[in-house]
Amino acid sequence: MAAIPARAGATATASGSLPRSTGRRRRNAVVVAAATGTGPAVPQEGALERPAWSGETPLSRLVGALIAFKPLYSLMKLASREVIIRTAEKSNIPWREMTKKVLESDVYEVFERIRDPNLVYPNYYLSPFHAYDEGNLSWLAAAEAEPATMSIAKRAIPEATSIEEANQIVRGNWLNAIEEHHLKYSGNCQINDILDIGCSVGVSTRYLAEKFPSAQAVGLDLSPYFLAVAAQREEKLSRQNPIRWVHANGEATGLPSDSFDLVSLAYVHEQ
Ligand SMILES: C[S@@+](CC[C@H](N)C(=O)[O-])C[C@H]1O[C@@H](n2cnc3c(N)ncnc32)[C@H](O)[C@@H]1O
Repeated sequence: MAAIPARAGATATASGSLPRSTGRRRRNAVVVAAATGTGPAVPQEGALERPAWSGETPLSRLVGALIAFKPLYSLMKLASREVIIRTAEKSNIPWREMTKKVLESDVYEVFERIRDPNLVYPNYYLSPFHAYDEGNLSWLAAAEAEPATMSIAKRAIPEATSIEEANQIVRGNWLNAIEEHHLKYSGNCQINDILDIGCSVGVSTRYLAEKFPSAQAVGLDLSPYFLAVAAQREEKLSRQNPIRWVHANGEATGLPSDSFDLVSLAYVHEQ
């Protein structure tokens, strides 16, 4: 039994509950509240220890006070970025190379096609996030999202011998949990339409599309920058069912109700 602790973040929710209602009925939605999985014996995801500077300790209050002092915070951000990048590169994640490749590509044209200029962002989304001043609404955040995702997988599975193995374990457990739930509660009905809410640069969407190749997958995100990176990367592939990318708020997608057999919300933690 391979289990993902709930805080590792992989969940899928009922298809009917998210997109607004327009009346079309759908059979047997896949509903997964917390990810658990069966399958080949694989290492468990590591329990991540809460850092000493988090929570309500004197150290955390000191860190909070230091962060509140803007010039110092900027220096701390620079230093911690360096550490994060160097740590990733030591694990064979070519962070700077991957970032440069995205920033020097034609991703900017894709952005113009994908962006909904009328989308109203929730307030939380307009705040600095992950040490990016513009949060997820920036090219740097978008270009660094995939190496960052790889780095997190390696941190979650420290005993993995490679990044690929760490990814396979994290994503494999999540896909196993979906499959197990599907078999148990949905009578193993055909999955034709998949919605991946908070798809970021499309890593989770690609895994879903590969797991269910005959389905039409839609990746939805609030960041047009992330979606542009996802779409630009995908443009070079000749997938049986090309993934569709939607710039929208997962809390009010505007998509027809009951139009998806599987709705996934994996590792979405912004709010
Ligand atoms: C950590 S990433 C998820 C990564 C991806 N699902 C995966 O498994 O690799 C979280 C994503 O949720 C998106 N997000 C946050 N709030 C959202 C909302 N209300 N609607 C849609 N996307 C949202 C962010 O833009 C970000 O791309």
